[in-house]
Amino acid sequence: MALILGIESSCDETAAAVVRDGRDVLSSVIASQIAVHAPLGGVVPELAAREHLKALDPCVEAALRESRTTLDDIDAIAVTQGPGLIPALLVGLNYAKGLALGHGKPLIGVNHFMAHIYGAFLDGEDHLLREKATYPLLALVVSGGHTSLVLVDGEGNARQLGSTIDDAAGEALDKGSKLLGLGYPGGPAIQKAGADGDINAFNFPRPLTGAAGKPLDPALRYSFSFSGIKTALLYHVRKFGGDDGVLSGKLLADTAASYQYAVVDTLVRKTLSAARDFGARTVVLAGGVACNKVLRADLAERLPGNIRLQIALPKYCTDNAAMVGGVGYCHFLKKEFADFNIDSFARLPKFVRVPFANSIK
Ligand code: KG4
Ligand code: ZN
Repeated sequence: MALILGIESSCDETAAAVVRDGRDVLSSVIASQIAVHAPLGGVVPELAAREHLKALDPCVEAALRESRTTLDDIDAIAVTQGPGLIPALLVGLNYAKGLALGHGKPLIGVNHFMAHIYGAFLDGEDHLLREKATYPLLALVVSGGHTSLVLVDGEGNARQLGSTIDDAAGEALDKGSKLLGLGYPGGPAIQKAGADGDINAFNFPRPLTGAAGKPLDPALRYSFSFSGIKTALLYHVRKFGGDDGVLSGKLLADTAASYQYAVVDTLVRKTLSAARDFGARTVVLAGGVACNKVLRADLAERLPGNIRLQIALPKYCTDNAAMVGGVGYCHFLKKEFADFNIDSFARLPKFVRVPFANSIK
């Protein structure tokens, strides 16, 4: 039995969790900074760092208290090393180093993307990560900061097939929501505003899908671009919003639904192409945008029946430390400990070894 304390601070959530054997989430505490960043319309990295500094101690204390453990019981401390916002990551990483050093615990650096993938298998499904039939596994990780397709093979090699060349999908929703006067975070706000709207009322672009009849550069087959959608929405608001640029009633609902569906349809098209091209046997949907009901339903409906769809529970879609503790356990089993001079990193490297596929049967 091993207890891992997970710590997460890559963006605007400070989180700590105690996870037993990579499976049982004994506690998962999240301090959200939404209220701090909301008036500014997005995450400010330096502000996030300062907030992490304040929130880390209470989060870790609460995670230990709720799991009825103490630091003495903890076998290792796993912390998100990257990708993410460097100022934010640094605070969590240095905090974890201090805690590990001070209490004589091994330190484990966790890749945030691999943690998002692992998060889709938390709550009893982690065994699937060790089964050969699960691979190749294709993960769509979509959040406010990331939009990436990652392929994991049965040997435990992860490769980023493509990512966004400008805005992330969540960013497109957040910025779109701001344009529509719906507030931050935009994903849930747009989902709510568009709940009764018509997804086909307006035709927003599906960038880099070839949908507009423009041939797609093969190098961009698995890449995303969401800045054009936002501009299209700006023109739409100018056209229909009158002098004050405000949409309301059915017009607002149809706009929100159509805009959201343009993002969803783009994500699903790209995922389906990649799944087909690489013979994926599992598709994982993770990251904050994976909370979106329309995305979850649309992907489930359009994915061929012979491909398993693994969607993270909403509580493990957005940033959390349980997923960090889960991956941390896999490193722990392999005795992959970090030394104390490890650094944070902002971007996902092209190739990553995943720790959870090591004992695939
Ligand atoms: O993973 P996350 O908590 O943080 C990072 O960005 O790393 O994701 C936050 C993003 C925001 O852009 C937010 O608008 C989006 O996830 N989001 C959603 C929903 N809930 C959160 N997007 C669409 N629909 C939702 N229900
Ligand atoms: Zn994330």
